[in-house]
Amino acid sequence: MITVVGSFNMDLFIEAPRFPAPGEAILGKNFRRAPGGKGANQAYAVARMGMPAAIIGAVGQDDFGDEMVANLLEVGVSTRGVARRADVASGTAMIVLDSTGQNQIVVANGANDTLTPADVQAHRDLFAQSKAVVVQLETPLDSVEATLRLARESRVPAILNPAPFAPVGDALLHLCDWIIPNENEAAKLSGSDVRDAASAAGAAVAIKMRSACPRVLVTLGANGAWLDTPEFTGHVPGFKVNAVDTVGAGDTFIGAFVTRLVEGAGPREAARFGCAAAAIAVTRRGAQASIPTRREVEAWMKHPEATA
Ligand code: RIB
Repeated sequence: MITVVGSFNMDLFIEAPRFPAPGEAILGKNFRRAPGGKGANQAYAVARMGMPAAIIGAVGQDDFGDEMVANLLEVGVSTRGVARRADVASGTAMIVLDSTGQNQIVVANGANDTLTPADVQAHRDLFAQSKAVVVQLETPLDSVEATLRLARESRVPAILNPAPFAPVGDALLHLCDWIIPNENEAAKLSGSDVRDAASAAGAAVAIKMRSACPRVLVTLGANGAWLDTPEFTGHVPGFKVNAVDTVGAGDTFIGAFVTRLVEGAGPREAARFGCAAAAIAVTRRGAQASIPTRREVEAWMKHPEATA
C-alpha cells in the first residue's frame, strides 16, 4: 500500500483564449468542475495503477467534500484518514486554461489548511502498513513535517513532492528519502535556473547537498525527468504528445512512478513508466478524470507513436 498525505480541491475550470491582464475581464467558455487537489490526485493515480492506496487529509462537510471523497472511493482509495470539518469549506482551485493548454491556478485551501500533525499521527497504522508515504506542500508545513517524521519512525520511505513551492528549511528536507520537484520548484529549492536536463542536473546536485537526501528526481514536463540516485543518474526522456490540458500531469507521474518503485522497479524504469502515464493524462481534460489505468499505460507504452 502507498499512503498519501495531502490536499483535496474541487477544480473549477474555465477555458479562455488567453490569460487576463491584471484588472481586465475577458470572456471564457466551457465551465466545468472536477475533483482535484495534489494529494487526492496522487492517491487516485496510485489506485489507477493497481496499487492499494490510502489518503490522509481534510475536507469540509459540503457537497464538494462529498463528491471528492466519493471519487476516491470509486477507485478503491481508503478514505478513513479524511477528516470532515464542520466549520470550513472544502479546498477549491480556480483554473484558467488558455488556448495553448497552459494553465493558471489559484487555490483557496479551505479545509486543507486545518490538517494538523495530530490528524496525521492518528493514522500511524496506515504508515505501518505502507511501502511508501507521499506528501506535497498543499497542506500546512507542520503536518508535512509530522508526515516525514512518522514515516522515518515507521521505517517507510518518505517522498516529498514540494508543490506548490513554499520555502522549506533544510531540517525538513533532511527527513526525505526522495525529493521530486518540477523545474520551477527545483529552481527555487536550488537557487539556480532550470530549463533542461543539463540545468536540472546541477539543481539536483544542489538539492542533494542542502537536504542530504540521497535521491532527487526533477520532472521536466514533455522532456521527461532528470534522476540523481545511487542506482542511476541521468536523463529519462519523455513522450511527445499533443497536450490539451496539463492539470494533474505531475500528480499522475508521481502516482505511477512511486507505484513502480514500490513494486521493485529501478528508478529509471519507474520514471519512464511515470512519463508514459503523464503523457496520456495531458491528452485528456481534468485532473483525476485524465489519469489512465495501468492497463492503458502498459498498452500505450508498446505503441506510443500511435496516439502521439
Ligand atoms: O496538481 C494539480 C492540482 O493542483 C489541481 O488539481 C489543483 O487542485 C491544484 O491543487
